[in-house]
Amino acid sequence: MPLTVVVGGFFGDEGKGKVISYLSLVDKPDICVRTGAINAGHTVNLNGHTWKVRIIPSCFPNKGTRLMIAPGALFSINVLMREMEETNTGGRVWVDYSSGIIEDKHVEAERRDEYLMKTIGSTGQGVGTAMVDRVLRRLRLARDFEELKGMLTDVPREVNESLGNGNNVIIEGTQGTFLSLYHGTYPYVTSRDTTASGVLSEVGVSPRSVNDIILIFKAFVSRVGTGELPGELKPEEAEARGWVERGTVTGRLRRVAPFNMDLAKRAVMLNKPTQLAITKLDALFPEARGKRKWGELPAEARRWVNNISEELGVPVTLIGTGEDAFDMVDLRGESP
Ligand code: IMP
Ligand code: MG
Repeated sequence: MPLTVVVGGFFGDEGKGKVISYLSLVDKPDICVRTGAINAGHTVNLNGHTWKVRIIPSCFPNKGTRLMIAPGALFSINVLMREMEETNTGGRVWVDYSSGIIEDKHVEAERRDEYLMKTIGSTGQGVGTAMVDRVLRRLRLARDFEELKGMLTDVPREVNESLGNGNNVIIEGTQGTFLSLYHGTYPYVTSRDTTASGVLSEVGVSPRSVNDIILIFKAFVSRVGTGELPGELKPEEAEARGWVERGTVTGRLRRVAPFNMDLAKRAVMLNKPTQLAITKLDALFPEARGKRKWGELPAEARRWVNNISEELGVPVTLIGTGEDAFDMVDLRGESP
């Protein structure tokens, strides 16, 4: 705080929705900015309700937070409108003039593209094809659409002014470090740079404005689509360990592997986080489930977390122990 960037350390689906919704309720940011595009689904669970958002920032549970979409982000107007209704956020969602708009033709072109759909395992949301149009200076932007008129704003200015007034701002990254167009397992990657630096450039804030970078790792690694996954488990083994997950956007079964320290070290090098969040600790240590205090975690789980802090040289400050936003051990301001 005041400017916190939250990014994923593996291949996406580390639990950004959960961590960011928790931070929104506890730290009460003035603004939360979503980067990325509608290929990235973030899940928020609170008091028995589940939301799956693809463009609305995951801070929506905090009613006082202004929800903004970055100039570098891409979305389709129908997904935005539907999610605004589902999350009941009309009136506090703001779109940058320069956010990119995905149209039906982008989705159609992507789904016709066998290389993207079969070899890369694209989510087929038209994000890559819209990004191509953006690079070719043909993509229509939010400012070109009448139906967005009342929601347009200058997001870099809003963020910089809010920070100047001493407020908290959260920048929401998408996907994970190894799906980065530049730093991931190319060509099995998404169409943007998903690291902390890329996310900042999408919003329009300087690296000098950043106070905290939170890098999220799940307690095991998962990946949807194709591309290498070191230590990948057979589906039967994943099921035996209780690690079965499905993609938020596509519903595809996620491939899984045990926590990978080598990948984690590289993600730390690329993002230089000030803090680490670990999600789904309960997937490794069932007795950790639902615990909200460090001292209530099983000793073995605490040792596992401490080992990660030591190996990576960064404190683990947030530990997810269940689906609900508040199933979280928050060690910020304490030493474990
Ligand atoms: P695309 O970005 O939709 O074309 O997908 C390219 C690759 O990135 C595929 O392997 C996708 O499964 C993966 N991918 C894209 N977005 C996400 C995400 O939000 N979470 C996890 N994987 C993603
Ligand atoms: Mg996801």
